[in-house]
Amino acid sequence: MVTKVTVKAPASTANLGPGFDVFGLAINAFFDEITLRKARSGISIVADDNLPKNPNDNTAGLVVSNMKRRFKIKDGIEIKIKKGIPAGFGMGSSAASAAAAAVAFDKLFNLKLDQDSLVWLAGYGEKASAGTIHYDNVAASVLGGFVIVKADPLKVIKVAPPTDLRMCVAIPTLDVPRKKTEFSRKVIPKRIRLSDSILNLSNASAVVAGFMAKDTSLIGRSVVDVIVEPARKHMIPGFDQVKKNALKAGAMGVAISGAGPSVIAFASSRSDMARISKAMSRGFSSARIGSRTVICKPSKGAASMKK
Ligand code: HSE
Repeated sequence: MVTKVTVKAPASTANLGPGFDVFGLAINAFFDEITLRKARSGISIVADDNLPKNPNDNTAGLVVSNMKRRFKIKDGIEIKIKKGIPAGFGMGSSAASAAAAAVAFDKLFNLKLDQDSLVWLAGYGEKASAGTIHYDNVAASVLGGFVIVKADPLKVIKVAPPTDLRMCVAIPTLDVPRKKTEFSRKVIPKRIRLSDSILNLSNASAVVAGFMAKDTSLIGRSVVDVIVEPARKHMIPGFDQVKKNALKAGAMGVAISGAGPSVIAFASSRSDMARISKAMSRGFSSARIGSRTVICKPSKGAASMKK
């Protein structure tokens, strides 16, 4: 009988420019690990960071308590959280813990849920940090690769990324506000111009075509967002310079990673990634902001580990 399962889930970048709340890409920059162990009763959380220990305030805790109720599980559960993904920087940190928790729960109780159900259940955890449920990061973390979230009813479409796709994530040294995602969703305009919606739709379609055709350059050239980026970029000091520098250093496209403040540049294995990452750091320095950069590739989805 299985009494303990550990699942590792990747970071992710959401939106990829024009695909707000719809596109996600799993990246191998960082990973979270969740271990679920059957216990006598209740739900307890063991974590080495300053993470909330009350299951109702904790991303993984919310997923586990919701699944426990829904599937009428009587056992108690201990949740052990090992965070590898910096929280609040636009790399799907809460989503990865939620994804790992849902996948681990499924395995621990042998539920054999399909992938859309796992994404839906993991989305519950996003409530803890974003205030609302959005599935782009959790879908990428659960399934891996590039995902398109088709809403209502929820259906996740996965496309394998081109093997030569490379990214550089520049993470500024900023104090991110608590509930950053919730806050950064409030600055997005409620009404948009039809011409902007057409531009974003054309770019989003080209991003999908780029992934389908494994055309890295088409993906890079299409991560252009004229709706959300202009509304959010003031929250990222130096953003324009970071973007300009990355493009000049050979990046094919640049976007805010999820709700920010990290900035992600898209390039190919033939690009000079070290040059792009230095250029991005220089962009942040010009606004007197420190930063670190991570060069990464698309990642596989959440998977259990032998422990
Ligand atoms: N699509 C979401 C947003 C991702 O941009 O608000 C947040 O992680």
